[in-house]
Amino acid sequence: MYDVHSIREDFPVLKEVIYLDNAATTQTPVPAVRAMEEYFFRYAANHGRGAHRLARETTNHYEDARETVANFLNADVKKTIFTGNATESVNTVARGFPWEEGDHIIVTLVEHHSNLLPWMRLREHGVDLTIVRPDITGVVDPEDISSAITGRTRLIAVTQVSNVFGSVQDVGRIVKAAHREDVRVLVDGSQSTGHMPVDIGSLDPDFFVAPGHKGLLGPQGTGILYIREPDMIEPMFLGGGMVRAVSDSGYEIEASPAKFEAGTPNMPGVIGLGRAVEYVKGIGVKKIEKHELMLARDAARRLAAIEGVEVYGPTDRSSVVPFNVTGMNAHDVAMILDQTKKICVRSGYHCAIPGIDFLGVDGTVRASFALYNTQEEVNKLVETVLNIAAFVA
Ligand SMILES: Cc1ncc(COP(=O)(O)O)c(C=O)c1O
Repeated sequence: MYDVHSIREDFPVLKEVIYLDNAATTQTPVPAVRAMEEYFFRYAANHGRGAHRLARETTNHYEDARETVANFLNADVKKTIFTGNATESVNTVARGFPWEEGDHIIVTLVEHHSNLLPWMRLREHGVDLTIVRPDITGVVDPEDISSAITGRTRLIAVTQVSNVFGSVQDVGRIVKAAHREDVRVLVDGSQSTGHMPVDIGSLDPDFFVAPGHKGLLGPQGTGILYIREPDMIEPMFLGGGMVRAVSDSGYEIEASPAKFEAGTPNMPGVIGLGRAVEYVKGIGVKKIEKHELMLARDAARRLAAIEGVEVYGPTDRSSVVPFNVTGMNAHDVAMILDQTKKICVRSGYHCAIPGIDFLGVDGTVRASFALYNTQEEVNKLVETVLNIAAFVA
């Protein structure tokens, strides 16, 4: 285990509030913020676009961050692309894949809108979509995905950990079954990356997407996209930094990753992300996983024991704990938690309306944990929800 109290010194805002909205975005540790400060105050310049010392230094730090992230995920560095967020990563694949009319995609009902709407939009181009349903705890049976595969299926897009249920999908099994049928798989690692070990080399997905600003503790405005066969995907944007040659008659696109990073990238963000990943790595993702699961499962079990509180998701959940207090709107519960005890949780649809509709509710309150949360914070959450539920009863 690690000393959570000393880690909290690196996240000053935690002295002010109980932050349990980590599935939306996490706090960024001081060393990562300092790395960004150093970029701004010591060597800010553009990436890959100059011979002068600052441009070279920026480029080196940016590319070092790529190596750090790729190593952390056990991915090929040339196939590791920086984007603005996980949404941009999914859209890059949806827009750049060589679709043909009549192609078929499989997704699940527990997807975040970011891993649903880009595929839905392809219906306009004659691409069919099957949405596989989970069980009531948000777990999808890999067999149900396999049996939805047809002769025209080109892609399965599935999230590893649901931001609505906290359920963990068996993406390893899904990838293996899909590859046997020559079907490609996009894994949405938005709620898994940094929270549990992710090994792209052994998982072997065709595409893997993750935000930099959740479990990896990087700044907002950073995202990751891994593409196993970069030649197969057309870049979404064309412009500076991604071409090798341009003439009157046309242009020649650079190889990955430059191919997918047109325009001035988010240098400070990526450099901050690289430092944040080193921070996560320094603590150890297995230890982080153990700590978060201990807190989340304790919170789920104790909340479920309160009369008038319903907790959703499986017992072997990840660090996401959705619940409702009977007779109360989720937003009102979240507001009371904040106003009485400065507990910050998310409430509502969590950008995943089909999953919430499947639960048959208007929304949920979602407490989600990160490496810096404590048992005392769980106790405070449970105690406050107990008081709210007693008041309503
Ligand atoms: C499962 C899942 N996928 C995708 C996203 C989108 O991430 P981003 O906001 O970085 O685009 C989220 C964000 O909450 C998520 O939870």
